[in-house]
Amino acid sequence: MSAKKGWNIISKDYQASVRISLDDVHYGPISPGEKELKLLGDVKGKDILEIGCGGGQNAITLAKWGAKSVGLDISEEQIKYANTLANKQGIQVSFHVGSMENMTMFSDEIFDIVLSSCAIGYSENYDQTFHEAFRVLRGGGLFVFCVVHPIANRGRAVRYGKRKLWGLGNYFDSRRRTWTWKFDKRSAKFYGYHRTFQDYFNSIVSAGFIVTKVLEPEPFPLDKMTEEEKRRVPYYWEGSEKEYNIWRRIPYTLLFKAKKPR
Ligand SMILES: C[S@@+](CC[C@H](N)C(=O)[O-])C[C@H]1O[C@@H](n2cnc3c(N)ncnc32)[C@H](O)[C@@H]1O
Repeated sequence: MSAKKGWNIISKDYQASVRISLDDVHYGPISPGEKELKLLGDVKGKDILEIGCGGGQNAITLAKWGAKSVGLDISEEQIKYANTLANKQGIQVSFHVGSMENMTMFSDEIFDIVLSSCAIGYSENYDQTFHEAFRVLRGGGLFVFCVVHPIANRGRAVRYGKRKLWGLGNYFDSRRRTWTWKFDKRSAKFYGYHRTFQDYFNSIVSAGFIVTKVLEPEPFPLDKMTEEEKRRVPYYWEGSEKEYNIWRRIPYTLLFKAKKPR
């Protein structure tokens, strides 16, 4: 099924099973967030668009930090959740339902920053998404996004004697994959896309951006943290705890920071 239909089905359970900060911008499960990585600079007064904003936590945090925040997601259910959350927080964010590949609701060159966390991996046409991000940004504007790292996206945990290691079947196999998301009450089958590091890098450059930073952040040391400290992890999901011995040894998040030339 389409990402739209799939996310509409799992939105409720997804939001109930992850703990996403309303106090930091997150860059993926158990990864350091914006407070530590400092990729966006001072956001006060800036026009910021988050694409694939899901439940809106990042866009809401940015608005709390003084940005003029806009969120876009293809799933009506995710945007419904985002609007409710923003109202509860008493925060003004303009949320839209739509596709990141075709952002017709936004004119050219109206944003200072385009941000995306863990969403571009669902885009059927990421070349088009990068062109759209370029189009809506002002000259000098920033494009910051993270995806599940191609190494984490492709492999699976395998037993090697008594140890569990990460087994990478075929890094270069970029066929569309069907994912089954199972939560307590619902499940949905929809597509995920594998792209190699060079696919991402070359596509961003082809869209016209200058890549200024690439990060593969090490995760928080969950094994050494108290429950109180874990509550401050920007994106916490119980599953990362179970597989922590693996996640601390391979890159889970891949982050790009790119600039639109003036
Ligand atoms: C893993 S969630 C991440 C959501 C949010 N950024 C977060 O960190 O919680 C991926 C999101 O991408 C959205 N999405 C998938 N394909 C999309 C597309 N083509 N255009 C816009 N949003 C899309 C989904 O609806 C979903 O909310």
